[in-house]
Amino acid sequence: ASEAEEKDLVIIGGGVAGYVAAIKAGQEGLKVACIEKRGTLGGTCLNVGCIPSKALLNNSHLYHQILHDTKNRGIDVGDVKLNLGQMMKAKDTAVSGLTKGIEFLFKKNNVEYIKGTGAFTGEHEIKVNLSEGGEQTVTAKNIIIATGSEATPFPGLEIDEKRIITSTGAIALDKVPESMVVIGGGIIGLEMGSVWSRLGAKVTVVEFLGQIGGPGMDAEISKAAQKTLKKQGIEFKLNTKVLGGDTSGEKIKLDVEAAKGGKQETLDADVVLVAIGRRPYTAGLGLENIGLETDDKGRLVIDSEYRTKIPHIRVIGDCTFGPMLAHKAEEEGVAAIEYIKKGYGHVNYGAIPSVMYTHPEVAWVGQNEQEVKASGVKYKVGTFPFSANSRAKTNLDSEGLVKIIADAETDRILGVHIIGPSAGELIAEGTLAIEYGASSEDIGRTSHAHPTLSEAFKEAAMATYGKAIHF
Ligand code: FAD
Ligand code: NAI
Repeated sequence: ASEAEEKDLVIIGGGVAGYVAAIKAGQEGLKVACIEKRGTLGGTCLNVGCIPSKALLNNSHLYHQILHDTKNRGIDVGDVKLNLGQMMKAKDTAVSGLTKGIEFLFKKNNVEYIKGTGAFTGEHEIKVNLSEGGEQTVTAKNIIIATGSEATPFPGLEIDEKRIITSTGAIALDKVPESMVVIGGGIIGLEMGSVWSRLGAKVTVVEFLGQIGGPGMDAEISKAAQKTLKKQGIEFKLNTKVLGGDTSGEKIKLDVEAAKGGKQETLDADVVLVAIGRRPYTAGLGLENIGLETDDKGRLVIDSEYRTKIPHIRVIGDCTFGPMLAHKAEEEGVAAIEYIKKGYGHVNYGAIPSVMYTHPEVAWVGQNEQEVKASGVKYKVGTFPFSANSRAKTNLDSEGLVKIIADAETDRILGVHIIGPSAGELIAEGTLAIEYGASSEDIGRTSHAHPTLSEAFKEAAMATYGKAIHF
């Protein structure tokens, strides 16, 4: 019976963008179905992205700390051994708990969950190839495309997810490789490179550009991050391009050369992680059947209300514009439903935080110093090192700094950049400050509990318009 009935909304893709939109639609009383082909909800983020990578980052950090950072804390540890199988199980438990949680939320909010692959057969009609066999046709007044992204392949290196891997292979290796070369020193390269380096692999990161961290990271913070990661044992080859690889021998041989041409060398590796970015995924969606096209980067083109040129078909998340981040996808999921239901919605793209979950973490929001400089706005910078923060000191975890960039005339905060312990939690305060148009003096005059890491944020703000007390 449900087949014949037209829905208010059908969503293709049950990743963060799609499942959040589905729950919100259910809450708003829309008759909604969500089509997902993976077999589980949560998309890249919950299944093979944010969640499994953070489980491994947390536990590999604990292992590394127990090996190298206990004696001076007064803890003598005996025989420490890695049980990689159990570490992977702990990761899988986190993933399955969370993906099942979304299924529960679907039931709670009356979202129909259709397991299968959806493709357009008309502007209001989607044919689903059901995972358990057979087909189902779904019609809807509104449709949201939320089909996400996939790893960008490296030409000439065939991904087998065992020796030549993407992040999906990197969260599931069954033994610690002796050596790993990471192509691309962006967020995935540095997070997964950190995991395997901590577990014992010799990790070399090859990055085309002159700085690590990918687009967006402040150059000063990127330098600091590289320095600490190098101290942890990761080797970097910046301004270097990979020419090609040979996988026929026991070791993979990668030919690299200076990006500007010249010096060539060959790197040996047991495993090569390809982490040169992600690209929108719209394969098999039947876009040609309804005349929807993608731009030169594979993104579906939309207006400011997420509408394609067919106005009842909207697009959110990784398969369209903007940063490929789960919390950005989530905001769009909510806003898209508000547009459908109420005619207005809101996402502030100037206040979307980024976090790299290495140790220490790196987090930022707003503009970096390069961008502010290029914009021509007069600005001032306040910094505060965690080495002068009492909580970081007591925790024996005081590497890093907070850097705040404010408009020289209005004192309004333009960017917050943190490298340090719990930077990913601390950045929430910076995001709130930017969202509400705070000045650095607003922050500097706000009481922060002592002793906490957040005092470093307050003192960096004080340093922006005056002087910090403790440095
Ligand atoms: P996706 O999560 O990719 O979901 C799209 C879903 O659509 C998929 O499940 C797919 O199976 C389904 N689908 C596609 N086509 C069809 C079809 N035709 N029919 C039915 N279903 C279909 N972001 C963060 O903010 N923080 C992090 O810490 C973080 N860590 C990451 C770590 C890794 C290793 C990776 C790879 C990514 C990470 N990201 C992180 C990015 C984050 O995962 C993405 O931004 C987020 O998943 C995007 O959500 P989405 O819903 O747009 O797409
Ligand atoms: P990225 O865009 O962050 O970094 C890719 C890096 O590879 C860049 O530094 C780029 O200069 C470099 N590069 C590109 N081509 C190259 C080549 N041929 N040789 C050498 N280097 C090359 O992309 P990444 O790390 O693959 O991650 C993809 C996306 O996934 C991120 O942009 C982010 O949106 C998301 N993600 C977010 C995480 C988080 O929020 N913590 C964690 C992991 C992924």
